[in-house]
Amino acid sequence: MSFDISAIRSDFPILGREVNNRPLVYLDNGASAQKPQVVIDAVAKAYSEEYSNVHRGLHYLSNVTTDKYEAVRGKIAKFLNSPSEDNIVFNSGTTEGINLVAYSWAMPRFEAGDEIILSIMEHHANIVPWHFLRERLGVKIIWVDVDETGDLDPEKVIAAMTARTKLVAITHMSNVLGTVIDVKTITRAAQAKGAAVLVDGSQSAVHMPIDVQDIGCDFFVITGHKLYGPSGSGAIYIASERIAEMRPFMGGGDMIREVGRDIITYNDAPMLFEAGTPGIVQQIGLGVAIEYMMDVGMQAIAKHESSICDYARSKLDELDWLNVQGNSHTKGAIFSFTLDSPAHAHDISTVLDKKGIAVRAGHHCAQPLMEYLNVTATCRASFAMYNTTQEVDALVDGLELCNELFS
Ligand code: ALA
Repeated sequence: MSFDISAIRSDFPILGREVNNRPLVYLDNGASAQKPQVVIDAVAKAYSEEYSNVHRGLHYLSNVTTDKYEAVRGKIAKFLNSPSEDNIVFNSGTTEGINLVAYSWAMPRFEAGDEIILSIMEHHANIVPWHFLRERLGVKIIWVDVDETGDLDPEKVIAAMTARTKLVAITHMSNVLGTVIDVKTITRAAQAKGAAVLVDGSQSAVHMPIDVQDIGCDFFVITGHKLYGPSGSGAIYIASERIAEMRPFMGGGDMIREVGRDIITYNDAPMLFEAGTPGIVQQIGLGVAIEYMMDVGMQAIAKHESSICDYARSKLDELDWLNVQGNSHTKGAIFSFTLDSPAHAHDISTVLDKKGIAVRAGHHCAQPLMEYLNVTATCRASFAMYNTTQEVDALVDGLELCNELFS
């Protein structure tokens, strides 16, 4: 498939609707992306024709559903260039993925005084599980700040590593600033010092090709609803050496081989970490979404979004009453901003909404970064493969109206 923006837009039925009597301009993709018709159809077909539980039945529908569900593991392995589908653990998204690492890998292994390095740009999903270890084990969280452009120099992260560093848990792309981090350099240095690296790929995997073998990280988390798939779908790549070190933290069906009154034997990974009935149809939908992205081509998506990013940067730069947070040279198409006027981000977002423009306003689940930037809230426009320069123009028109109203 070549990159044909009109064809891509027509694949997403919701983009044809109006909001507040205006054509929808959906710029809240960092929070959740819209779904192409193929995903909607796959979900509807699964429920209307091919639904059953997985791994349990010997009947026709259970076998069909199990085959479709399990096939997604291979698709995600290909999408991330994982060496094997056995390194892909399904889950409900990034939050569950990072909590799995915290409970199954870190909790039994870390001790008081061990250190976890986080960037100041982390989403709460990559902060709160580490606070649990701080509270319960006495582990130290070491924060690394960004510079004035919103960039994170890998050397600053490397300089923060000590003999007590057990884990570097770092975003690949900030959900607030759009900064893309050089996680490969960080991973090389961390592993040379005996520390593991968890990369939060929630935002990055939507916008660029991912190669976990090239990055060399120990853990890489993705979330399906941002990848044009259903909410409640997701996965984590775990390097084989780390899988061997992990103990399950959720117990239940599917993760065992045998349970007796006094004995239990466990299933192999990845099912060892997938207790209970999973998000069957959600994962099937995610598989279709990933196939759709790969058909469009991750390089083609990255190229299109880079041109949208450049265009939006130049247009927003012209608004001298607008303060865009972060202008790193590695920035992707996520723009957080405030106005010079005292208007709250929620007011700006409400005015934009009246013009059919959807953005997110608030702290974006990144309160340490908000504190560091000395703002309580920002408005955020986050772009996806289906956005256009005309939509950037619509955003600029909306912001000019906000400036008039609130100045
Ligand atoms: N993590 C999502 C966001 O950044 C919800 O908006």
